[in-house]
This record gives sequence, C-alpha cells and structure tokens, in this order.
Amino acid sequence: MKNIVVVSILISFVLLGIIFSYVGDIIGDDLVNILSMLAAIIILGLTVGVGLKYVNQMKNDKASGQLADENWDGIGEFKNELPVGWAVSFLSTIVWSIWYWFSGYPLWAYSQIGEYNEEVKAYNKKFEEKHASISDDELKAMGQSVFLVNCAPCHGVGADGMDGKAANLTKQFDSASVKYVIKNGSNNGLIAEGVMMPDRNGLININTGNAISDEEINVVSDYVANGFVGSKGAEVFAGVCSACHGTDGTGMPMVAPNIKNFSVDLVTAVLQHGKTGAIGKMPSFKTEDMRLTATQQKAVATYITKLKEEQENG
Ligand code: HEC
Ligand code: HEC
Repeated sequence: MKNIVVVSILISFVLLGIIFSYVGDIIGDDLVNILSMLAAIIILGLTVGVGLKYVNQMKNDKASGQLADENWDGIGEFKNELPVGWAVSFLSTIVWSIWYWFSGYPLWAYSQIGEYNEEVKAYNKKFEEKHASISDDELKAMGQSVFLVNCAPCHGVGADGMDGKAANLTKQFDSASVKYVIKNGSNNGLIAEGVMMPDRNGLININTGNAISDEEINVVSDYVANGFVGSKGAEVFAGVCSACHGTDGTGMPMVAPNIKNFSVDLVTAVLQHGKTGAIGKMPSFKTEDMRLTATQQKAVATYITKLKEEQENG
C-alpha cells in the first residue's frame, strides 16, 4: 500500500511536469487558473492512485468478501461498497461546478473586449474631466476633428452631404426633407418624448380651418428650406406650424424642435438617437455606446452650428 502511494505520487508529478511544460507560463497569477491547476493535481493524484490500487489488487488479491444474494447459474458478485474516495471526489466536482458556473469563468471571465471597454470608459472619464471647462473656440476646433473622423465619411469633408448621400449640414433642410416630415411625421427623439404625427390631416391651418393641402405643403416646405423667406409660406407656417415650432421656427422647449437653425441641443439629439428621414438613416453616436463623449458631441454640434452661421454670413 505504501508503495502504491509513492508510485502514484511519482507518476502524478511526471504528468504534472508534462502539463506545466506546456501551459506553465500562462497560468501566471490568475486565481481561476491556479484553482483549476489545483483541482487538476488532486484529480490526477486520485486517478493514478486508484488506478494503481486496482492494478495491484488484480495482481495480488484472492477472492474474498461477501457475495451478493443474487447469482446467475452460480456466478455471483461480491458486495462492493461505494469507495469513499470516489464519492468524495464526485461530490466535490458538484460543489466545484457550482462555484465554476456562479463565480468562476463563465460569468466573471476575463475578456479582452471587457478590458478594452473598461479602459475606454476610464479614458473617456479623464477626457471629460480634462475638458470640463472648454472655450467655444476650443470646442469648435475639437468639433472639426471629430467631424472629419466620424462624420465626413457620410457628410463629406465640406459637410455638404456628398450629393445627397447624407444631409447637407451647411443648411438645415432641403425642401424634400421638410415635405417628407410633413407627410411621414418625425419620430427621431429630437425633443424629449414628442413626435410629429405622420397624419398630415392632423395639421390644421387655423386660418382656414382645413387640413393642410398639397399646395400648402409645397409652399411651406420651400419656405422652411429657404430660411423662412416668402410671404405665402409665412402665412401657412403661421397657420399650421407655429403653434408648435414657434412663430419664428426656432422651436419651443418640450414641444417642437428648432427648424430654423441648428442648435447644439438639436444636433446632440440627432447624435444620441440617430435620424431617419427623406435621405435615409443616420446611425446614432450614443455616449452609452462610447462612440462620442458628451463633450465630443457638444464640440461637433458647435462646429455644425457655426458652419451654418458662417455660410449665412457669407
Ligand atoms: C403638434 C406640434 C407640431 C406641429 C403642428 C408641427 N410640428 Fe414639426 N415637429 C414637431 C415635433 C415634436 C417634432 C420633432 C419630432 C422628432 O423628435 O422627431 C417635429 C419635427 C419637425 C421637423 C424635423 C426636424 C428635424 O430636425 O429633423 C420638421 C422639418 C418639421 N417638424 C416641420 C414642420 C412644419 C413645416 C410644420 C407645419 C406644416 C410642422 N412641423 C408642424 C411638432 C410639430
Ligand atoms: C453612415 C452615414 C452617416 C454618418 C457617419 C453620419 N451621418 Fe449624419 N446623417 C446621415 C444621413 C443619411 C442623414 C439624413 C437623415 C435624413 O434626414 O434623412 C443625416 C443627418 C444628420 C443631421 C440632421 C440634419 C437635419 O437637418 O436634420 C445631423 C445634424 C447630422 N447628420 C450630423 C452628423 C454628425 C455630427 C455626424 C458625426 C458625428 C454624422 N452626422 C455622421 C448619415 C450619416
């Protein structure tokens, strides 16, 4: 029996040596790896020990013990108790598997993506703290870089929308986009929970008492797209749109967005929610998805607001 223990320990060490030579350097100080190795050592030791014990028994044992009551044509079986070692290791694998599932690898595993996300989060936090107070000019400069990296691929380096592939950001709307909103509504999260309903019949001209007509839609769309010039369009706007968008089109808090000028609020809303409209779909750049931080959003929004102002001032 003593020999068996010694030999089994020796064989275990040889096997462990082989395993270590392959994976020893990746075990490092990772607790889960170390515990797994420990479990492997115990299982290996037990397996080798038990294996040797039985080999030994086959070689030396005489038939002994108590026969079971059943026998088949005189061939019977000895009564075998469940080996304690086996029962203990079986129970410990159950305990170990519970640990493994609930606090071991599957749920708390190291992941490269996780580490990357943690690092980006930490960096973004530092970035936000560093730029907590930032001047308008700095914002604009930062906005330009953000724009060139994230927005220019669709909106073009000059923000002109690349022949209609994306919105032209040097002006707020073209006529087709306004028309599209009047006919299809708008549900882009531009203003808290508000939506513009898709049913154009809901748009009543308070001056005539009628639902907005096709003719009026054309007129008011051109009016909005052209920067609120034209008396006929102004009439329709006052009758239909101003109740929500304000008499001058600059919007009302919690009611309807500014459709005259890009405001930082509007552009950040577009970045947070993405936008679907006449031209197509713009993906969101949510802070939660760590695509753009709040400061970066404010920066690029400032940049876009200034683009339009510059355009208008010549
Ligand atoms: C009942 C209130 C209401 C009325 C009336 C209304 N709107 Fe709106 N409008 C909204 C709201 C709210 C939104 C923002 C919806 C969203 O979050 O996408 C909006 C969005 C828009 C947008 C899109 C803004 C953007 O930046 O994408 C345009 C363009 C627009 N409205 C034009 C008009 C015009 C033109 C009229 C008049 C014919 C009009 N609206 C009448 C409430 C209204
Ligand atoms: C994958 C292409 C794509 C990218 C990248 C993109 N956009 Fe857009 N964007 C669009 C499209 C398409 C629209 C037009 C949606 C519509 O109204 O049909 C749009 C619309 C907009 C609008 C609304 C214009 C308006 O008048 O309502 C703003 C503001 C805007 N984008 C800003 C940005 C900024 C800032 C970035 C970079 C952080 C950006 N976009 C990146 C495709 C893109």
